[in-house]
Amino acid sequence: MYLTKEEEKTLEGEYGETLRKAIEILVALGDIYGADSLIPIKSAQIAGVSYKTIGDAGLEWISDLEGKVKVPAILNPAGMDMLRWEEMGIEPDFARKQQEIIDAYESLGIRTKCTCTPYYLEGFDAKLGDHLAWSESSAVSYANSVIGARTNREGGPSALSAALVGKTANYGYHLDEMRKPVVAVTVDCELSGSDYGALGYVAGKSIGSRVPIFYMQNKPSNDELKTLGAALAASGAVALYHVEGVTPEAIRSNFERPDENIIIEKQQIADVYEASAEFTEGGLDTDIITVGCPHCSPEELETIARMLEGKSIQKEMWVCTSREVAEKCVGHVKAIEKSGAKVVCDTCMVVSPASNNYKAMMVNSGKALAYVPSMCRVASRYGSIEQCIREAGVVDEN
Ligand code: F3S
Repeated sequence: MYLTKEEEKTLEGEYGETLRKAIEILVALGDIYGADSLIPIKSAQIAGVSYKTIGDAGLEWISDLEGKVKVPAILNPAGMDMLRWEEMGIEPDFARKQQEIIDAYESLGIRTKCTCTPYYLEGFDAKLGDHLAWSESSAVSYANSVIGARTNREGGPSALSAALVGKTANYGYHLDEMRKPVVAVTVDCELSGSDYGALGYVAGKSIGSRVPIFYMQNKPSNDELKTLGAALAASGAVALYHVEGVTPEAIRSNFERPDENIIIEKQQIADVYEASAEFTEGGLDTDIITVGCPHCSPEELETIARMLEGKSIQKEMWVCTSREVAEKCVGHVKAIEKSGAKVVCDTCMVVSPASNNYKAMMVNSGKALAYVPSMCRVASRYGSIEQCIREAGVVDEN
């Protein structure tokens, strides 16, 4: 791999041990995947934030690093709402360790707002063709597919290394030839809202890590694409998808239709909404409802606020979003919280150990449906946002 003189000096340790380690990781990845050089990135999004997932070893690794990031960098969700962790039932020991992790990242100049939807925030508004080093799988999918920016599915250490160096290795989804669709997915029915998460949940299993192009009967909104991409990345390992006539590269490139065609029928989507045997035979009753996977957009908060206005709910319900979006949508947040639902920031139902306090969760996200049972050991079932609110035991206040 070609390195500039400056990059060589960095690799030799002339600019300190942290940068040496960081560029060593990037060069090693570049060598493995056949990159020709390092390329500048516009921003980084760093996973490996929740103490639940990185533990003491991760904390120690981050704490040893010095210096500052060279591009805007932001964190993935942590294991708790950084302000309301006690209310979530988080243990003080966990909270202390989580705060230490956040502080360690902050000392490197990383923005410590924790979210999987950095694209809603100033400084992270990528454009078509921008090179990024993002790591959370739904954020990667959104950047590549909906925005048309270019990022591999970075691991936490490689995204952090890219942020410190300001560059990443030029391979994978940074290259034109890796972005072409290789499998077609024909959706044989009309979809709306959470159906897109169900579609991603079903289709991801057949697509695996390939690049698909969808042929759909409707034109999905960006929020619907967000939920599709998150589910595709979780039930498969899709980092980039196209939708004919909708996503920017599909519009620009007029891709040839791939030979392999997967057909998704209405019944397959409907099946995702059916409760699993765990619920029906095990007599499980939903004890928590969570929405906002990926983190809610301002428009999604508005929709939920409208649905909950003047009502109260009987069960625990979390609406997950980033703190910055919540701070911009104070009115919607108030309306949601007045109903008894909690607007939970900085974290989510998958990465927080607080989910373990429940037995059965209803979600409106294909990604959460896939991950909650395996990562939280909590049974999950799927519903639209309307079904989720109904399941929360909504009562009209008037
Ligand atoms: Fe985001 Fe957590 Fe879902 S990180 S995509 S809300 S699993």
